[in-house]
Amino acid sequence: MNFAGKTVVVIGGTSGINRGIAEAFASAGAKLAVASRSQDKVDDTVAALKTAGATEAVGLTFDVRDPDAVADGLAQINAALGEFDVLVSGAAGNFPALTAEMSVNAFKTVIDIDLMGTVHVMKGAYPFLKRPGASIINISAPQSWLPYEGQAHVCAAKAGVDQITRTLALEWGVEGIRVNSVVPGFIEGTEGAKRLAPSPDAEKKFKADVPLGRWGQPEDVANACLFLGSDMASYISGTVLSVDGALYQRGSGQAGRMIGQMLRSMSGGKS
Ligand code: HXC
Ligand code: NAP
Repeated sequence: MNFAGKTVVVIGGTSGINRGIAEAFASAGAKLAVASRSQDKVDDTVAALKTAGATEAVGLTFDVRDPDAVADGLAQINAALGEFDVLVSGAAGNFPALTAEMSVNAFKTVIDIDLMGTVHVMKGAYPFLKRPGASIINISAPQSWLPYEGQAHVCAAKAGVDQITRTLALEWGVEGIRVNSVVPGFIEGTEGAKRLAPSPDAEKKFKADVPLGRWGQPEDVANACLFLGSDMASYISGTVLSVDGALYQRGSGQAGRMIGQMLRSMSGGKS
């Protein structure tokens, strides 16, 4: 893959899966921009992207819950790096919590980050997308398709993200903009996987549900994003692509039950 001369923007690109995606595009010679809330994480990532091979790399801080800050940040990236060839929207927050036991604000926090954050990123980036040719990749999760106990907030948010993908593929497809989602399965060594499988026992049981017999690596997701961002995918839009070792084919599985069991045992079986 050669992304020389292309501008790639990764929102939430400063740790875990999204940072892996940013580094993959950097290795392919792109100009990179990343954004998240933490200046330290942004600085560290920008340095790593330059080392990885980015022709230029910039970073800035904003919270995706703030639409004005997102729009302003994306305008700054456009001024620095030009029109966006690839936009990856991956900022997200998650914690395991039963619906009856979490506050309204807790539920709303995940909706605000994952779902509304995606809306803010899409709308903020819209004026700066290369047309024709831009590729948008929203980072979703298995919870979009599969109900997991203790994850109603994430299930609702990520299902919404994927419906935005499908709908904007219609609305923006006429301008030559492609919009797709990638659904990572459980990815090794990441914050998201640690929060849902905090014990070796949970990790072992969740892994046993993956037909390919392992959790994914960040590179597995990054490779799918390189493909979707490239001309090889020039007729692919409106797709929600699982990169999950066929986890989806097993249904909600152990994760669907065990997160709820874990939470109920902690709360004394209240709900
Ligand atoms: C119940 C909780 C909670 C928990 C927070 N809250 N953690 N409720 N159980 N474990 C509640 C708080 O009490 C508060 O409600 C509300 O949520 C907001 O919490 P804050 O701490 O004020 O929020 P904030 O500082 O904005 O942080 C957002 C966050 C945090 C989501 C809570 O964890 C975060 O920044 N996460 C980013 C990193 C992350 O989550 N990465 C994993 C992504 S993985 P009240 O009512 O008290 O005000 C993913 C999918 C993985 O997205 C899929 C794997 C298969
Ligand atoms: P992570 O390391 O916690 O990455 C989240 C990124 O988003 C960080 O760069 C974080 O940086 C940023 N971020 C979080 N809240 C933000 C906010 N309000 N505004 C701006 N930036 C924010 O998580 P991960 O586990 O790698 O997950 C990355 C993506 O993959 C998420 O979309 C997640 O839903 C999805 N996913 C993960 C898994 C998995 O196994 N891990 C599985 C399926 C899907 P700051 O903290 O600096 O803001």
